[in-house]
Amino acid sequence: MNSNNIHMICNSDDLKSGGTGVKFNLTVGSQPVPAFVVRFEGSIYAYLNRCAHMMLELDWDDAEYFDTSGEYLICSNHGALYEPNTGVCVNGPCYGASLIAISVKEVDSMVVLDDERFEIDHTEKS
Ligand code: FES
Repeated sequence: MNSNNIHMICNSDDLKSGGTGVKFNLTVGSQPVPAFVVRFEGSIYAYLNRCAHMMLELDWDDAEYFDTSGEYLICSNHGALYEPNTGVCVNGPCYGASLIAISVKEVDSMVVLDDERFEIDHTEKS
C-alpha cells in the first residue's frame, strides 16, 4: 500500500461541485474526530465536522453540507452559513468564526489527506 492509499479519503469522482460531501474520521491522539470533504467550484475543501457555534456536527448524518443555493455550507442545527472555500461563517450565530480546515489534495483521481496534524481513522467507516 503506498502512502496515497493510506491517506485516501475517497475517489475524486465521489465529489461533485456543490453536491453531497464525503464523511471520514481523523485520529487526533487516540480520539476519532469526524470530518468531511466537499467540492466547490471544482476545488476540494475539507473541514472538521464541528460547527463553530456549538460542538455539533454540521450535517444530520447525511453528508449534505450545502444550502439550497449551493453557494454556502450550512449547519443543520441553527443554520450558520459558511463560505465553502474559507470555512468562515458569514451568517448565523457564529458570524465571523471559522470551521477548522484540513489540508487535502487530489492525486491520481483520489482525494487524499495532506495534513500532518492528523491521521485517517481507517478502523471506522463514516
Ligand atoms: S450548532 Fe451550528 S449553527 Fe448552532
